[in-house]
Amino acid sequence: MAAANNTPSLPDHMQPAYVDRILKPLESRISELLDEFCPSSQGAERLNDIKKLVVNYVVLQILTQTFDPNLCVTPRPKDLAHAEAWVENYCHDSSIHLGGEPPQITGLAGHGKEFYSTLTHIIADIVPALNSQALSSRYYGFVTGGVHPVAQAADNVVTALDQNVQVHLPTTHSISTVVEHHALSMLRSLLALDGFQGKTFTTGATASNIMGLACGREAVISARLPDYAKTGGVGELGLVGACMAAGVREVQILTSKGHSSLYKAASVVGLGRAVVKIWGFPDTPWVLDLKAVERELKREGVASLIVVSAGEVNTGQFGTSGNAMKELRKLADRYKAWIHVDGAFGIFARALPKVDRFAKLRERTAGLELADSIAADGHKLLNVPYDNGIFLCSKPEVMSQVFQNPNAAYLAPVASTSRSGTDTEIQSPLHVGLENSRRFRALPVYALLLHLGRENMGEMLARMVDLAREIAAFIRDSDKYELLPDETGADIECTHIIVLFKAKNPDLNEVLVEKINETRRMYVSATKWNGENAVRIAVGSWKVDVEEDFKAVKSVLNSL
Ligand SMILES: Cc1ncc(COP(=O)(O)O)c(C=O)c1O
Repeated sequence: MAAANNTPSLPDHMQPAYVDRILKPLESRISELLDEFCPSSQGAERLNDIKKLVVNYVVLQILTQTFDPNLCVTPRPKDLAHAEAWVENYCHDSSIHLGGEPPQITGLAGHGKEFYSTLTHIIADIVPALNSQALSSRYYGFVTGGVHPVAQAADNVVTALDQNVQVHLPTTHSISTVVEHHALSMLRSLLALDGFQGKTFTTGATASNIMGLACGREAVISARLPDYAKTGGVGELGLVGACMAAGVREVQILTSKGHSSLYKAASVVGLGRAVVKIWGFPDTPWVLDLKAVERELKREGVASLIVVSAGEVNTGQFGTSGNAMKELRKLADRYKAWIHVDGAFGIFARALPKVDRFAKLRERTAGLELADSIAADGHKLLNVPYDNGIFLCSKPEVMSQVFQNPNAAYLAPVASTSRSGTDTEIQSPLHVGLENSRRFRALPVYALLLHLGRENMGEMLARMVDLAREIAAFIRDSDKYELLPDETGADIECTHIIVLFKAKNPDLNEVLVEKINETRRMYVSATKWNGENAVRIAVGSWKVDVEEDFKAVKSVLNSL
C-alpha cells in the first residue's frame, strides 16, 4: 500500500502505517478465529458474511475511537481544511500517495485505489474532520442524539447484511419485517400510543411530517366526497380532481410555531407553504389558540389539518396539554379535520419516569394519543443512528389509501397476522410508507429497546432532562446570561431538553455562539428569539453525565 510521507501532525493511531500494522493482521486473526469457532453447518458463504461483519465492526470501532470526546467536540479548522483539500483532489487520482501536499485534480481515476489505501485515507484525512456528535455528551447543536453502543452494533449488522425491508415474506425470505413490526410495537408501548395500528419507519421526522400531511389531506377531502366508496379519494383522483368533486375550495394547515419541515411537507404534498397558518398566543407563541382554530375550522368549503407542535424546536415547549387535546379532538371530529402531531423529540417526554419533577411535562404531553397521526425521530433522543424516523397513524386504512404501491406482481402484497395479537396484520412496508426499497432501520431500535427496556430508557431520557434543567437554572441565576423564553416565568419544571438563552451584554450576545463553539469543548446552535440572537442548547445523548457535563458547560459559560 501507499504509505509514504506520513502527515506529521496526525496522532499515531491515524498514521497510514497503522492500517498495515494493526488492521491487516487483525483481519487475518479474526478470520482464523472464525474458521475455528463458527459451526461448519453455516457453510462457506455464510461464514464469509459473518467474517465481513466482524471485520467491519472492528474497523468501525477503531474509526470511532480516533476521537477523544473530552478534548474536542468539533474538528480543528486545520483538519477541516486538510480534509477538504484532499477530498477535492485525492479522489480524482489513484496514483497519488498519501500524506504531504494534496495532489492536483486530474479527473476520476481510471483505476481505483487499493482497499487499504482507501481505508487509510478515510481514517487519516476524513475522520479528523468529522465532529464527535455521536461520541460526546457535550454536542448540543440542532437536536441530535448520539448512538447507543447496542444500536451501533445492530446497525453494523444492518449494513453488513443489507436487507431490503419492503415486502413481508417472513417464511421464505427474511424475518426483517417481523422485527420491524415488533420494534415499532415496543416503541408504541414505550410512548403509551398502543392504539396506533398504522406504523412505519421513515428517514426522519421531515418524512414523517410529509406522511402526516399526506394522510390528513386524503382523510379530510375524502370525508367531503359524495361518492367516495366508488371514486376513491386524493390517491385515486389527485388533489385537484378530489377537491373539485368534494366542493373543497381550500385546504389549510393550522399550527403554532410549526417546525420549518412542516412548510416543506406542505409544499411536497401539493398544499403549499402559504396554507400554513400560525395560531399561537402573543405571549406564548408555541401554545395553540383553540378559539382561533375553531374560527378557522368553521369556514365554509375549507378542509383543515391541525398540526400540534409537541416540542417546539427553539424552546422545547409544547403546543397543547391534556385538556387542550381533548378539546381539539372534539373540534376535529365536529369539523372533519385531521390532527397530526410533530413530536420529533418532544414525544419522548411521555417515556420519562413517572416522578413529580416531570409532572408538568407529563401534563404537556397528555392527550397526544388522541391525534390521528404522529411524527417522531429515532435518530434524536432514542439514540439510534441517522436515518431513523417513525410515523404512527391511528387510521391505518388511510395510510394504505395514500401509500399503496399497486400493479407490481413481483411485489405482491402479503400480509400475515401478527402473533402478538396487538395488530390484525403485518403489512408489507412498501404499501404503507413513502419508499419501496428501504434500509433495515428497525434493527437498532429493536436492539436498543430490548436492551434497555422501559426503566432504563426512562433513566436515559431523565438524565437528558436533568442536565438541561441544571443548565437552565444556572443561566436563570446568572448575572451574565438571560434564560429564554421569558414567558415561561423561568419555570425550570417546564424545561424538557432544550435551553434557550442570550447574553445580557449585547456585544457578547452578538458573538456568543461563535465564542462558545470556538472552545470546542461544547457545541451549540444559533437561533433568533423575538428578533434577537439567541443560543440553543439541545441535550440528546445517551452519554449524558449530569454532574460532569454541567461542570464543563458552566466552566465554558463562565469563561466568556
Ligand atoms: C420539531 C421538529 N420537527 C421536525 C424536525 C425534522 O426532523 P428531521 O431532521 O429528522 O427530518 C425537527 C428537527 O430538528 C424537529 O425538531
